[in-house]
Amino acid sequence: MKFNAGEVIAGRYRIDAFHLEGGMQEVYRCSDLALDRIVALKTPRDGIVDKRFSRGAQMGARVVHPNVAATLDYVEEDSHRCLIEEFIDGKDLGRRLASDFVFLDPSLSAWVVHNIAKGLQAAHSVGICHRDLKPSNIMTSADGHMDIIKLTDFGIAKLAEMELEVEIEKFEQDENTLTSSSTLLGAVPYLAPECWSDWPNAGQPADIWALGSIACHLLLGKPPFGGGKGAIMKMAQAQLAGKVELNAPQWFGKHLETAVLEQELWTLVQSCLQINPALRPKADEIVQKCEALCYSAAPRQTGVIEIYPHKYPNGGTATAGFIAMDSGGKAFFHISDFFGAEVKPQVGQRINFSIAAGRPRERCSPVLLLQDA
Ligand SMILES: Nc1ncnc2c1ncn2[C@@H]1O[C@H](COP(=O)(O)OP(=O)(O)O)[C@@H](O)[C@H]1O
Ligand SMILES: [Mg+2]
Repeated sequence: MKFNAGEVIAGRYRIDAFHLEGGMQEVYRCSDLALDRIVALKTPRDGIVDKRFSRGAQMGARVVHPNVAATLDYVEEDSHRCLIEEFIDGKDLGRRLASDFVFLDPSLSAWVVHNIAKGLQAAHSVGICHRDLKPSNIMTSADGHMDIIKLTDFGIAKLAEMELEVEIEKFEQDENTLTSSSTLLGAVPYLAPECWSDWPNAGQPADIWALGSIACHLLLGKPPFGGGKGAIMKMAQAQLAGKVELNAPQWFGKHLETAVLEQELWTLVQSCLQINPALRPKADEIVQKCEALCYSAAPRQTGVIEIYPHKYPNGGTATAGFIAMDSGGKAFFHISDFFGAEVKPQVGQRINFSIAAGRPRERCSPVLLLQDA
């Protein structure tokens, strides 16, 4: 770690705690002593070529949008380059997919895709592309509906570009480098095919491919080609075939209320995952498509299935049950509102749900399976 708690960087940013680190940077939670607010300080990890970090910060600062983490400052301390960014209290989408959600129901998927698309549109409209768009570069607030969604690391797009270009070259010479490069490993499932063959010319359409891969991951619970070397092989096959063959989630069409939305989302995914970059939609077209989707952005809560199936006093059973809400109280749900793919509702299962008025009790819809706590 480059900094210790209590250290004040550039006379203004006090390190409160080490927050997290990824393939390229260390992230600290800091207090901005001048403006009395919490900020994130990002500094390249040791060994990362960081010549372009300041240039990257300038690029990040050009993207001003609620769906993009704000670049606030760039400072140097003892030759360490530091980017100061808005601190987002929550979890990145990568961690949420790894430990909270199994997959996302159509409405929540549409909400996430719509917000990512708006952030991308803002960047693309000022001529900036991300190049390393992946779930861990998408911050979400900790609530069940991910009220806040912000893209991050536009500022290090250039850095990622250099790092990934070197990694891809190394991988081409020695396939074992993939396992040793967390940067490349994290990026692989979302990297557009042209990134492999012509990295310097991969541009905005590569971000659109990444958006399609992320949308696919939300709905399927895994990226289009999976991860690791297997993903590279499948990608190469798709590139040879000139098209991506994907099976839609097998639960599509089983929930009448969202059947149309499911198809529209899948069409969107497929349009983004086209081998020919020129055929993919532009970010503003995707935003327009998302605006036309009929999806619910109702707040979500979490809870546990307490009763399923419900038994009537006369001995019959209903394909319905009750949820113990984390916020207290109970609510009713029907099997038709349960999004669990092949999983059936089980007592004790953690779920994410929206609540609607109902008599004699409130009714939950949708009810989305979560991973065990
Ligand atoms: N602005 C921010 N506020 C809070 N946490 C952040 C912010 N930016 C990044 N993070 C967290 O720090 C982690 C490490 O960042 P980074 O080094 O960019 O790793 P990664 O390769 O996973 O993107 C991210 O995965 C994310 O969870
Ligand atoms: Mg990152």
